Amino acid sequence: MGGAAPSKVYNPLNELPSMKGKIVLVTGSSSGIGFATLQCLLRLGAKVYMAVPDEQRTKDALERIKREGTEPGLGEVIWHELDLKNPRDAKDSAERFMKKEPRLDVLINNAALITDLGHPQLNVDGIQDNMAINYLGPYVFTRTLLPLLESTAATGDDVRIINVGSDGVKDVTFLDYSSKKAWNHKFSFTMLPTLNRYKYSKLAVHLWTNNLAKRLTAENSKVLVMLVHPGGILSDGAIRSLKQLPYPPFWIWMMSKILHPQERGAFTSVFAACSPRDTPEITHGGYINPPNVIGRQAPAAYDEANQQRLFEFTEALLKELEV
Ligand SMILES: NC(=O)c1ccc[n+]([C@@H]2O[C@H](COP(=O)([O-])OP(=O)(O)OC[C@H]3O[C@@H](n4cnc5c(N)ncnc54)[C@H](OP(=O)(O)O)[C@@H]3O)[C@@H](O)[C@H]2O)c1
Repeated sequence: MGGAAPSKVYNPLNELPSMKGKIVLVTGSSSGIGFATLQCLLRLGAKVYMAVPDEQRTKDALERIKREGTEPGLGEVIWHELDLKNPRDAKDSAERFMKKEPRLDVLINNAALITDLGHPQLNVDGIQDNMAINYLGPYVFTRTLLPLLESTAATGDDVRIINVGSDGVKDVTFLDYSSKKAWNHKFSFTMLPTLNRYKYSKLAVHLWTNNLAKRLTAENSKVLVMLVHPGGILSDGAIRSLKQLPYPPFWIWMMSKILHPQERGAFTSVFAACSPRDTPEITHGGYINPPNVIGRQAPAAYDEANQQRLFEFTEALLKELEV
């Protein structure tokens, strides 16, 4: 978390073109920054898929949307079940989506486990949940959806993949992504092991996105790939983790002085997803920071050898897992 302050005056609903007729899928959008992103897209008129695992939180989110937005011109929201923890489920979810829709204009990979509350778990394949949910699941989901994104782009339409990264990756010093043992590193002997596990998995997202942008360029793909950092945001997930501390109201109050409200966390994702293609900041492989400016990623994210090692190990692992 942390980073530059999002713009105070920016309102995406006044600044961005209508998204009517566009199909957008936002992962992790029943709560947190993803929910705020989904609401913006909905108000811009898009048909938005809420790709999330938890049925109760989805019901609550759908109720909230009904309560808060019935104005004319509003798009449509549809639940699409997605659990990123098991790569087979991520693949299956993408395949089900492709049976539902003949096109996909924008994929926003927003979902993440921002805290394991100090208890890292392994998925069925023995992969720690920070890497399983934040990197491997989104990798498989995106890889499976790529033919649909490509076929949509082939018709001349503007197609984008927006990956939500984090400026926090600047602090990552453990840079080995070449084995399952490395992926499952617990950072036990560091000051903040939970936060470091999260940041390590987000650096994987940066390495993957930068590598994907290059591979798509090499294949003459018309699909645009971008990374965004939402800023330091007091999201639903951040509040849930503060509730684990003694005297939660104090910590929530204190963090509300430092972090920005959830609605602002959507700005960079929505800007990257909806700004016209000739907007100077909208560039293939670009990194958008608050307040919607091009940023520099951590130097480690640009390490091409490490991007390639991560890519090769991921593909080898998925082959071994038969995913
Ligand atoms: N908050 C910040 O300051 C900050 C800073 C930098 C970057 N980010 C990034 O912004 C994005 C959103 O973060 P946030 O703060 O809004 O977090 P959040 O409030 O915890 O929301 C995370 C979302 O991901 C979903 N999710 C969790 N596990 C999942 C799984 N196994 N499969 C599918 N979806 C799953 C959650 O669904 P459930 O609600 O059903 O669990 C929730 O909708 C993340 O990528 C995060 O890394 C946040």
